[in-house]
Order: sequence, then C-alpha cells, then structure tokens
Amino acid sequence: MTTTIPHAPAARSGTSPADIAFHYDVGNEFYALWLDRTMSYSAALWDGIDGDPADGDVLARAQRAKLDHHLDLAGARGHSTGFRLLDVGCGWGGMAAHAVGSGRVQQVTGLTLSPAQHAHMSDRALPGVLPLLESWDAHTAVRPYDGIVSVGAFEHFVTDRMGAEQRLAVYGAYFEKCHGWLKPGGRMSLQTIAYDDQTGPDGPVGRFVAASIFPGMTLPRLAEITAACDPYFSVTVLSASPDDYARTLRGWSARLLRAREQAEELVGPEGFRRYRLYLRASESTFLRRAATLYRIGFRRRDEPLRTAPAVRGGAVGSVS
Ligand SMILES: C[S@@+](CC[C@H](N)C(=O)[O-])C[C@H]1O[C@@H](n2cnc3c(N)ncnc32)[C@H](O)[C@@H]1O
Repeated sequence: MTTTIPHAPAARSGTSPADIAFHYDVGNEFYALWLDRTMSYSAALWDGIDGDPADGDVLARAQRAKLDHHLDLAGARGHSTGFRLLDVGCGWGGMAAHAVGSGRVQQVTGLTLSPAQHAHMSDRALPGVLPLLESWDAHTAVRPYDGIVSVGAFEHFVTDRMGAEQRLAVYGAYFEKCHGWLKPGGRMSLQTIAYDDQTGPDGPVGRFVAASIFPGMTLPRLAEITAACDPYFSVTVLSASPDDYARTLRGWSARLLRAREQAEELVGPEGFRRYRLYLRASESTFLRRAATLYRIGFRRRDEPLRTAPAVRGGAVGSVS
C-alpha cells in the first residue's frame, strides 16, 4: 500500500515547505532516537532540575517544565474552562499532548509545515488535538483562541534573503495575526533563539547551519521582536536562558552518539556526522553567547497602538 503524503501549502514568507521538509522530514524514527519521549525539539527548562541531560527521564522532566512554563504564560486555566489553544509550529505534538493530557487545555490547534510531523500527529489522533499542515500566515481562526504558544518556530518566519525592513514587516504581520486570533485579554508565549552578538549569521557555525541544516534560516534580534510586537501586545515576562539550550543540546548530542548504529542505518554515516556537528556547534554558539534563547510572555492590547514599527537605514524605529 502506498501512502500519499500531502504537501504543505507554500508559506508566503519564511522558510519554504521544501526547506522545512529537508530538515524535519528526515524521518520521525531518527528524531525519536535522540529527542525525549515528548518529542520536544526546542530548549528544555532546567530551573531546579539536576541530573544528566542525556538521561531520557531527566530530559523529559525538563521538557515538561518548559511546556508548563509556556502554558502558564499563555494563561491556560484548565480543561473545565473550555480553554482553546493555538500552537504555532507544533512539531510532533508534544505541547498539544501535554496540554490536553494534563487537563490544562480542552482543545489545541497545532500548525506545522512538516508533512512527517503532521502525519505523526494525525496517526496519534489525540482527542482535543487538531493538527493542521498550514503556515501561520494562511491560518484563520474559526473562533477566537484563549491563548497562543509558539516554541522554536519563530526562527523560521523570515529568510536570509530578506532585508531588515522586510523581516520586520513579517514579524509585525505575525503579531498582528496573533492579535486577531486571540480573545480580548488573551495571553501568548514565544520561545525563540536570537542573535546576541556582532557575529550574527556571518560566523562559521551560522554559515554551516544555514547551508547544511536549516537552509535559508535567519534568526531575529530582540529589538526586532519588541518593535514588531509593541503595537499589538504588552510584554509580561522576558527571560534570556542561553544555558538552557546549551544543556539541552549537550543531552541530544550524547543521546545521538549513544544511538549511533541505529542513526547511521536511518540517515547514513554522513547524516549522522552532520547532525552531531550541528548539535555540538550549536551548543558552543550558546556557550559563547553568540546566540541566546528568549522566552517571552505577552498580553493582548485591547486596541492596537497607533504607532507602527518601522526600519530606517537598518535601525528599528517607530513612526506615527
Ligand atoms: C524546531 S520545531 C519546534 C517544534 C515544537 N514547537 C517543539 O518545541 O518541539 C519548528 C516547528 O515550526 C514549524 N514551522 C516553521 N515555519 C512555520 C510556519 N510558517 N507556520 C507554521 N509552522 C511553522 C515547523 O514545521 C516545526 O514544526
């Protein structure tokens, strides 16, 4: 029997479906070898958690702490309230499964551009979870959501082919959409990697990752995020935790090494080597503070501000 894999519709901005498939459709089995059992593919939250990040139980505990942190920021109040959540960039559905499984959320809509992730979620068919193979810029909410989370997807929303003005316009369009999707007073959370020094995408690690791991990807800077969100949201919480990503990457890298034989069967020796290099180089990027990790909480403004973000000569400014 052959299975027809649906194609993700073209995103109007950001990483293309083909580039998403290049990375995320390597094979669910391969990622399952070295991610934790929640299949979380973003930094875990290590506050107060001791132990070896390569230990599956320890890693899963830190990943669940991260999921709960974002549910807190999104104001998830419990199943009995009928809470409806949008997860932009839902991966293999770890957030969705945890949100409904823990009883914090009644219904989750998850957006992904990866056919393999969408198929994985569709096969699980969890009650209360609706996976959509859809880009955020094509999404319309049937009814307003109570909360929104987005973990590790914002990094894909623009490409290295865009100029500063265009990037800011896309980020602004994202926050405008979120404002439109949320109920009045709605909360939202964002977790994203961001550049944090002068190197930006021009360092050797950035070039290797862009060429061989995440084609076309470029990261935001904090000033771009705050300028883009300001008309639509006030910021409730902002934390920078580069060590959380370094520790998560150390765990993934050790787990991948431990599963070398199976990994090489699935992706070949060259694929294994490339992923190990990417995980180790990325860890060093966070340890050197060339990049950082932000977790940001937002509250929806009742009315958008009349000032709009603008870029003049590459600098973020604001015009009335
Ligand atoms: C690094 S994974 C993170 C997945 C998950 N949130 C987690 O923490 O495990 C990035 C996710 O963002 C999704 N993504 C990237 N661009 C997107 C877009 N334009 N619209 C919706 N999802 C997108 C990818 O398909 C993938 O599921």
